[in-house]
Amino acid sequence: MHWFLLQLQNTASFPIVTNERILFRFTFEVFNATVAVSKLRITLMTTELAENIDWVGYVDWNVRDFHSFDTSRGATYNSYLIRDNKIAVIDSVKGLYASRLLQHLAEKTELANIDYVVCNHAEPDHAGGLIHLMANLPNAVLLCNAKCRETLAAYFDISNWKIQVVSPDDKISLGSRTLNFVNTPMVHWPESMFTYIPEEQLLFSMDAFGQHLATSERFDDQYDLATVLAEAKSYYANIVTPYSKQVLRTLEVAAKIPIKMIAPSHGLIWRTNIPKIVEAYQDWAGGKYAPKVLILFDSMWDSTAQMAEAILDGAVQESDNVDVQLMHVRRTALTRIAAEMLDAAAVALGSSTLNLQIMPQMASVTTYVRGLKFTSKTAIAFGSYGWAHAGSDQLDRWIEETGWTRLSQPIDSKFRPTHDILEKCRNAGRQLAQAALEKK
Ligand code: FEO
Repeated sequence: MHWFLLQLQNTASFPIVTNERILFRFTFEVFNATVAVSKLRITLMTTELAENIDWVGYVDWNVRDFHSFDTSRGATYNSYLIRDNKIAVIDSVKGLYASRLLQHLAEKTELANIDYVVCNHAEPDHAGGLIHLMANLPNAVLLCNAKCRETLAAYFDISNWKIQVVSPDDKISLGSRTLNFVNTPMVHWPESMFTYIPEEQLLFSMDAFGQHLATSERFDDQYDLATVLAEAKSYYANIVTPYSKQVLRTLEVAAKIPIKMIAPSHGLIWRTNIPKIVEAYQDWAGGKYAPKVLILFDSMWDSTAQMAEAILDGAVQESDNVDVQLMHVRRTALTRIAAEMLDAAAVALGSSTLNLQIMPQMASVTTYVRGLKFTSKTAIAFGSYGWAHAGSDQLDRWIEETGWTRLSQPIDSKFRPTHDILEKCRNAGRQLAQAALEKK
């Protein structure tokens, strides 16, 4: 251990200026110590997208919570380095991992030779590392739009940064490549923009088309496509859905430019399956439904669970062409519920009555789903109660206030559901399945 600490003391580090100072220094120095201990046997992995254009980001294998997004497969913060007559970095990483980004950059070029850092999006999972970049790249000018500059100023002390505000009319020549900018407000934040290199037909799309997926691969054709698309769908459902109108506008703009590669800020880079992800975005943003019935419930003593299963039975019996899914909301992550909700045409929401309210986790689900603004579903409320009746009525009001179509009055059960009540539930399941087929 003593020798290990000596190695720590002997390793150089970049100057640190941040309120994450202690954690950053620890991470960086332990990393450097590891390199020293192994006598540089560790090679940091970067990946070439095109000649002298490299991925230099960070793979966050073990993150499991991303501001409440359940990142069960981890995440990546993608950053890119373009070396031409001028040198540019596209986007940064989470502040905690800025040391890795700086190390990647230092392997490829002198830090003092970097001319530009582009900030496409000010959210801290990308902009958090900027404070370290701007402190360590003495000659770099930050390129961002006016809204982004305003947002960065609200997060960081940017008084010493050299900043050049850019607009879609500006073109920044790097030599043989040119940086073009497309403002994409609300995809994901007001200041968001894409950067495009026409000479490479390469689009840096920031959050759009991204996935929370940690892998040792960097490209879409190197990984199971169904998993990549499932994670892209989950990302869309949980992050992008409220801004679907803006996504449609952005897709119109993107359709006018030739694209050979889409390099998002999260997950795998699209180079082979671009039509598939663009078509998926058109479907998700356009509110296209799958013939799917989603049944969500919470239950105290199994009565509401029995009702949920009866709805499931009815929907399954109605048609083999309907995907029917049943989820206990206390056993299922909100992230997964939102992903399945995205394209479900019909929904059943059930809760026991607890203290004249719906069950607490069902309250979380309804709050979360309301914010995501899923539109135009056909839905029904159901649930059991003991001596005071409230849960299913609250869910019924929620369905109406959310603007969804109510299939019928809610189905209630005093304590255990009777045979007749279960038959009502089966019938509701059949009707939900029919509605899902009609909406397809
Ligand atoms: Fe990946 Fe909106 O930040």
